[in-house]
Amino acid sequence: MLKPKIILGIETSCDETAAAIVKGPNKKGGVIILSNVVASSQSIMAKYGGVIPEQAAREQLKSIIPVITEALNQAFPRYIPPTKYHLPPIDAIAVTQGPGLIGSLLVGVETAKSLSLAWNKPLIPVNHLLGHFYANWVQSNPPKFPLLGLLVSGGHTDLILFTDHNQYQYLGGTRDDAAGECFDKSARLLGLPYPGGPTLAKLAASGNPKAFKLPRPMINSQNFDFSFSGLKTAVANLLSEMHLPDLSDPLTSDLCASIQQAIIDVLISKTITAAQECQVEQIMVSGGVAANVKLAESLTKKFHGRVSIPPPQLCTDNAAMVATSAIFNFNPQDPLTLDANPNLFW
Ligand code: KG4
Ligand code: ZN
Repeated sequence: MLKPKIILGIETSCDETAAAIVKGPNKKGGVIILSNVVASSQSIMAKYGGVIPEQAAREQLKSIIPVITEALNQAFPRYIPPTKYHLPPIDAIAVTQGPGLIGSLLVGVETAKSLSLAWNKPLIPVNHLLGHFYANWVQSNPPKFPLLGLLVSGGHTDLILFTDHNQYQYLGGTRDDAAGECFDKSARLLGLPYPGGPTLAKLAASGNPKAFKLPRPMINSQNFDFSFSGLKTAVANLLSEMHLPDLSDPLTSDLCASIQQAIIDVLISKTITAAQECQVEQIMVSGGVAANVKLAESLTKKFHGRVSIPPPQLCTDNAAMVATSAIFNFNPQDPLTLDANPNLFW
C-alpha cells in the first residue's frame, strides 16, 4: 500500500495551462482532487481554426503563474502565497514532460524545475499519454488490473495493456490521423467552428448515423492498429460531390452522425477484440474523445465487463491526471537536468 501524498501537477503540453493538487491514494486506491484549474487559449485559437504553437506558448507564459497560484489558493484556502520561509504543504511537483508542442511544454517544465529547486520538493516528470489514463483513478472505486486502455486524443489512438502501475505493453495505435484528429478535420471540412470534435458530436446527436455510407478503415485487420485518414478523405470526396449543407440543415447532422458512427465502430470493434484476446475484464478509456457520449454509451453496452471513463472535464487536458500519475509512478528526477521531450512515446 502506497503512503498517501499531496502532489501539485502542472500540464502545458498544448493550448491548456493547467495546475491541480491531488491527494491519495485512499484505502481503495483512488485519489481526490483538492483543486483543478485549467486556463484554455481555445477561444484565441478558434480565430485561426486550430492551434498556432507560438501563440499557444505565449498564452502559456501569461497564465502559468496565476494558474498555479489559483490551484494552491483553492486547495489550501488559508495558505499565504509562498515565501522562502512559507512553503506550500505539498510532497512533490509533477509536470508533463511530453509529448506536445515544445514551446508550450517548456513553460511548464521550466516552471516546475524552478519551483522544485526553490521549495526543495521532488520533481516527477510525467508522460502525457500515460497521464491521460490516470484520470481514471480520480474516483473512490478505481479500475483494477489487468486492464485494457484505449487512449483517444487529438494526437493519439492507442491500445495499451496494463498489468500494474508502470507495467504496460503497447498493443497498437494509429498509423496516420488520430480519432480526435479525424473528428477535428472532418468538422473543418464541414465548416464547423473550432474545436471541431465537440461541435461535430453535438450536431451528431440529432442526426441519423446510417444516412451516409462511410468506410470503417482497418476494422477487420488482424492487428490493433488504426487508420483514420481514409475516412477523412471519404468525407472530403462526399462533400465535393454535394452542395455543402448549412449548419441548420438536417443533412449536416446526418453527416456528423455518420462520421461519428464510423469512428466509434472502429474504436469499439478493435478495443473489444483486444480485451478478449488479452483476457481482461476491464477497459478504461481516456483522452479528449473519451468525453464523447455516444462512444461511452456504445462501449458500455457492447462490452460485458466494466468500462471506466473519466468525467468529461478529466478526459480533456488537465493537471489532475498528471499529479495522479505521479502518485502511482513516483520517480523523482534531478530538476537541474530534466528536459521537455516533445516526441515522448510509450
Ligand atoms: O486529450 P485532448 O484534450 O488533447 C490531446 O492531448 O490531444 O484531446 C483533444 C481532442 C480533440 O481532437 C477534440 O476534438 C476531441 O479531443 N474531443 C472530442 C470531444 N471532446 C473533445 N471528440 C469527440 N467528441 C467529443 N465530445
Ligand atoms: Zn492530451
